[in-house]
Amino acid sequence: MKKQLEEISASAKAEISAVTDEASLRNVQVSYLGKKGKLTAILRGMGALSAEERPLIGALANEIRVDLEETIKLKLDSLKAAELENRLKNEKIDVTLPARSKSTGRFHPLSQVENELTEIFVGMGFEIAEGPEVELSYNNFDALNAPADHPSRDFQDTFYISPEVLLRTQTSPVQIRAMKGKTPPIRIISPGRVYRFDEVDATHSPMFHQLEGLVVGKGITMGDLKGTLAMFAKAYFGEETKTRFRPHNFPFTEPSAEVDVSCFVCGGKGCRLCKGEGWIEILGAGMVHPRVLENCGIDTDVYSGFAFGVGLERIVMIKYGIDDMRYLYENDLRFLSQF
Ligand code: PHE
Repeated sequence: MKKQLEEISASAKAEISAVTDEASLRNVQVSYLGKKGKLTAILRGMGALSAEERPLIGALANEIRVDLEETIKLKLDSLKAAELENRLKNEKIDVTLPARSKSTGRFHPLSQVENELTEIFVGMGFEIAEGPEVELSYNNFDALNAPADHPSRDFQDTFYISPEVLLRTQTSPVQIRAMKGKTPPIRIISPGRVYRFDEVDATHSPMFHQLEGLVVGKGITMGDLKGTLAMFAKAYFGEETKTRFRPHNFPFTEPSAEVDVSCFVCGGKGCRLCKGEGWIEILGAGMVHPRVLENCGIDTDVYSGFAFGVGLERIVMIKYGIDDMRYLYENDLRFLSQF
């Protein structure tokens, strides 16, 4: 029996030293020292031994058990140390690797252009005014000198919430809100969303953005309007930029004009961007119609004013040479990350 014990001890030690992971070590442990283990079986069979042999074998078996437990513990420690070392080796940071680039968000090109224009006009002394997108039909049309039967309504009829309430078709109703109950001087710009029943194509969208400007004061003339827009055009498109006024019609301004800037790509010679014209249309403007001032309780004997309205999509498209407006609304990062 002694020989059997020594064989068990030897084979257990061989197996322990051969294992390379903790789970196999636990298996070896169970197969020798567990309830049904080989060493345990010997201890169980001791009843069959003679009275002299029993304490000797018992002592030896115990010694082997203690020895094996110790060996297992040492092996476990060395396995854990090896595992730790392995992990440290694998998780080592290579400081020479290039850093992973972080992509930060940025403003949508429309917001960028809105911010740029706002900055220029705020620099000239304009204040920012806001108005609701859901607007009174009266503010959007009637007060702006476009009564129910006015033909201009046909071009920009919109989404009605009720006969009196609609989604504004232009930022011009903010003029009404800015003038009502206030005494001039008034100098505001008002950027925001507007809505029209236009069908979606490369240059139309049922929702788009405008920036309105309004100045009312004593002795305001067309010269002030021209000077303001010329200054804006130089600030935004470059010092060399010239402005041109073409007669137009808006119900709420008289006289009215469409305003062009000399092409900032070719300088006026004619190119692809300006379609050979040398000029690019950028906005609508005019002197505030006296009837609009009167609708807001402003004395037209004392005060006069000018107004202008810019389409922001148009400015973005001109500035970056974008030929389809839909790109601005699709939120495709391949497009947006270019700005
Ligand atoms: N509201 C006009 C439009 O949407 C633009 C405009 C604003 C024209 C102010 C003149 C003065 O077309």
